Amino acid sequence: MKTMPKDTLIAVENMGKRFGEKVVLKDISFSIAKGEIVTILGPNGAGKSTLLKVLAGVVPPSVGEVVRAEGLKIGYLSQGSGRNDAVPMTVKRLLLLSGNKSESDMQKALKLLKIEGLINEDFHTLSGGQVQRALLCRCILRGPDLLILDEPTLNLDFEGRIDFYRLLARIKKIYGCAILIVSHDLHLVMSKSDKVLCLNHHICCQGKPESIQKHPSYAKLFPYAAAKGEQDVGVYMHHHNHKHPLCEGGGK
Ligand SMILES: Nc1ncnc2c1ncn2[C@@H]1O[C@H](COP(=O)(O)OP(=O)(O)O)[C@@H](O)[C@H]1O
Ligand SMILES: [Mg+2]
Repeated sequence: MKTMPKDTLIAVENMGKRFGEKVVLKDISFSIAKGEIVTILGPNGAGKSTLLKVLAGVVPPSVGEVVRAEGLKIGYLSQGSGRNDAVPMTVKRLLLLSGNKSESDMQKALKLLKIEGLINEDFHTLSGGQVQRALLCRCILRGPDLLILDEPTLNLDFEGRIDFYRLLARIKKIYGCAILIVSHDLHLVMSKSDKVLCLNHHICCQGKPESIQKHPSYAKLFPYAAAKGEQDVGVYMHHHNHKHPLCEGGGK
């Protein structure tokens, strides 16, 4: 088995995934270090969810390997995870499923997620945004080293998204976990992202998001955040200068 640098939580090397004849992921190599925030951008069908499932260990890769730090704890929030379960359940009961957590741990997490008032509510009656915060709360209470979030902002409005990214920064600061997030917003990523991966079956490019202060279109794109003088949400300019042989039509 491959050895990893000490602060690496998870690494993939030349990983590929196919379903039958269909190649969904090809030559994927990257790693996530302790406390790092990594954002994945990419069009629909690019293989983002599949990549997250492989990393979370939900599906095996077809080629290559996934190396995890010993004892790595992953909190995985799948795309569209929600109220599949028909059994009535309070938020508190849902959170207790994450293990034997103390009341104070639970209160701390609920407060951070601003859902402390919902503890005795039936999980199934919550709004989409509240469901998501409750599920995220459960993930956090498990004490993950790495949080894997698949399009968690999908059903949130613009301000909700900005709020959510701020929340993630606080989660990282307080709990110290690394975060891997798939965002469908091409322009909205945290400036605190340590790495942004652009995925379209393969990794098209990766790098740091540009600094918002230097970007003239920041105020135009994010008037809400700009007006508040916040600097935690940034713009990632994505320039394609090559074709994608795996994509229909290429160059998308
Ligand atoms: N279990 C599966 N069996 C067959 N094809 C799948 C399976 N899961 C995903 N796919 C296919 O893989 C491609 C990428 O899907 P997905 O990873 O969900 O993309 P994204 O999350 O970027 O939208 C899609 O064409 C999808 O139909
Ligand atoms: Mg997806």
